This record gives sequence, C-alpha cells and structure tokens, in this order.
Amino acid sequence: MTRIAVVEGDGIGHEVIPVACRILERLHPEYEYFKVDVGYGRWERTGCPCTDPDIAELKTADAILFGAVTTPPMKDYQSVVLRIRKALDLYANLRPVKNDRFDIMIVRENTEGLYSGIEELTADRATTLRIISRKGSERIVRKAIDLARQRNGLLTIGHKANVIKSDVFFRDICLAEAKAAGVPCNDRFIDALSLDLLQHPENYNVVVTTNMFGDILSDVAAYLVGGLGLVPSANIGDHHALFEPVHGSAPDIAGKNIANPIAAVRSVSMLLDHLGDSRGAAHIESSIRQVLNKGICTRDMGGSAGTREFGDALIHALRSAE
Ligand code: NAD
Ligand code: IPM
Ligand code: MN
Repeated sequence: MTRIAVVEGDGIGHEVIPVACRILERLHPEYEYFKVDVGYGRWERTGCPCTDPDIAELKTADAILFGAVTTPPMKDYQSVVLRIRKALDLYANLRPVKNDRFDIMIVRENTEGLYSGIEELTADRATTLRIISRKGSERIVRKAIDLARQRNGLLTIGHKANVIKSDVFFRDICLAEAKAAGVPCNDRFIDALSLDLLQHPENYNVVVTTNMFGDILSDVAAYLVGGLGLVPSANIGDHHALFEPVHGSAPDIAGKNIANPIAAVRSVSMLLDHLGDSRGAAHIESSIRQVLNKGICTRDMGGSAGTREFGDALIHALRSAE
C-alpha cells in the first residue's frame, strides 16, 4: 500500500493543498492518505510547531505532499520545513522551471551551506557558519550529473568562488565529478548567472548550486514562467521524498481563494513521477495546459478564477481525458 503524508501547513497551504489532493486522490484512490499537522499554526495553538513523533510519522510515508509553513523571523523559532529536510536527509531540492522554449532544472543542495544552523549571536556580532562538505557536494553534483545525462544537456555550476573559499571547494568538486562522468559542464558566478538565466534561459539545462543560492535563484527564475504560483519542487533523499511548491505560505493573500494552485498540483506531478507513475504525471501536465488554454487562470496570471474554481476546472479536464 502506497502511503502519502499530507501537510497543508499554514496560509495558502490550506487552499492549494486541498486542490492538489483532490487531483492526486482522483488519480490514485487506492493510496492511503494521512494528514500531519505541523507549522506555525500548530505552534500558536500548542507552543510547538513540530514534534519528534511528527517527524517519525512523516518517515513512514512513501511520499510527502507539503504546502508551505510560515517561518517568522524570530531568534528562537526553527523553520519546520528545514527541520524536516534535515531530519529526512532530503539533500536534493529539484526545482524545474520550464515552458515550450526552455527546460531548466535547478538542483539545490538542501542540507548544509548557509543553512547549517550553526550560528552564534552576541550583542556585537552574529555569525552563521557556511558548511560545504565533500560528502554534501559530491552527492548533490552526482544527482545533477544523473539528471544532465537523462536530459542529454549541459550542467552549469553556480557559485561565488571569486569571493568565498568554500565555493572554490564546491566548484572544484563539481567540475571534477562532471569531468569524470564525461558530462558537458560549465560554471558561472551566481550573480552573473542569475541575470543571464533571465536573459537567455534557453542556454541552460541543469543548474547545480549551494543551498541559499539555489533558494534565491529559484524564486528569480520563477519570473520566467509567470511567478511563484507555477513552480513546483521535489526534495529527494536516499530514503524519503517530499514534494512542495517553491512558494511560501503567502500571508498577504491567504484565506481569499485567490492563490494559484498550479505549483502545488505540479508538485503532485513530480510526486507521481517519483513513485513511477509517469503517465499520471503527464496527465496532470496536459490537464493544466488544457485549462489554461481555455483562458481559465487565477489572478496572478491575469485571470479571475478562484483557487477552488481552478481546481474544479482541472478535475473536469482530468475526467474528460480519462
Ligand atoms: P511567499 O512565496 O509566501 O510569497 C511571495 C509573494 O508571492 C507574495 O506576494 C505572495 O502573495 C505571492 N505568491 C506566492 N505563492 C503564490 C500563489 N500560489 N499564487 C499567487 N501568488 C502567490 O514568500 P514570502 O512572502 O517571502 O514568505 C511568506 C512566508 O512563507 C514566510 O513565513 C516564509 O518563511 C514562508 N515560506 C515557506 C516556504 C515553505 O514552507 N516551503 C517557502 C517559502 C517561504
Ligand atoms: C523555500 C523557502 C525555505 C528555504 C524557507 C521558508 C526556510 O524559502 O523552500 O524556498 O529557504 O528553503
Ligand atoms: Mn525560497
């Protein structure tokens, strides 16, 4: 029995995940679904955003569908999504940005770098340790190399080796692994890369980078396809996998039925690909296209459909293609 953990999280997670779940349940009524309540709302209610038993429960799932959680910028609050990524060792964060002109896969290291959590705050100084390990770099670039091979494309390494020595280390490991694998590869400074990606997206295929650079680059790249409401992601480890939109809990639009559910629905598509149902994944993509071609879309894309109404249209498109 395939078991799916469903985490709505906070904010628009409560709106986009029900739409994504409807699609997944329609395609796979035979899966077992169970909800796990973690996030800022849980913290407000109970004083704890996520417990050890929650993590243990998430580990029992074959895949996790995750909305987004609010992470307030407070000194003593630990982001739930970061805790889950670390606890489940979901080291590869795959963020596809594509349309009919280009097909980019951002491969973001997901467990270390500036997100090491090794920090010190004093009255006069704040320090965050940026850890780039050999193991962490090798496993992320190997994932990126596999993808570049499958896609028959170029691998680009994004870094800031002109300034940060830990990125000389990261770049050199990536270059050596790509050379050994015989995969075509180049590298660019992350700042120049960010602009070039927007100006010439067709020149990119797989882009591998460190944790925070990948975080920023994926929001920037979302501009190419119409914004954050459209970009899904997969967080993959050797034993667990979690699928979530790239966007956050969007408190500015939460509770208004205007959030775009496409990123969440596309995350279901990535989940199905991961579980081996590439047909279901393709079915979802073609249904999204069909609905958009009818001019039905949410406000961020210039339309007037609500989150739920877009979901209804998607279910209709799925049914008619069955
Ligand atoms: P955000 O991604 O939530 O929102 C950025 C902007 O994009 C907002 O104007 C929002 O309205 C818009 N937007 C996002 N998703 C949209 C959608 N589906 N449809 C239409 N518009 C959409 O980023 P933020 O405002 O910087 O962060 C809000 C909260 O979310 C913070 O607490 C942050 O820490 C958290 N966050 C969580 C995750 C996660 O859980 N994976 C990811 C990113 C941010
Ligand atoms: C993301 C988010 C998270 C990150 C935050 C909320 C911890 O921005 O998934 O892109 O920085 O990874
Ligand atoms: Mn982000």
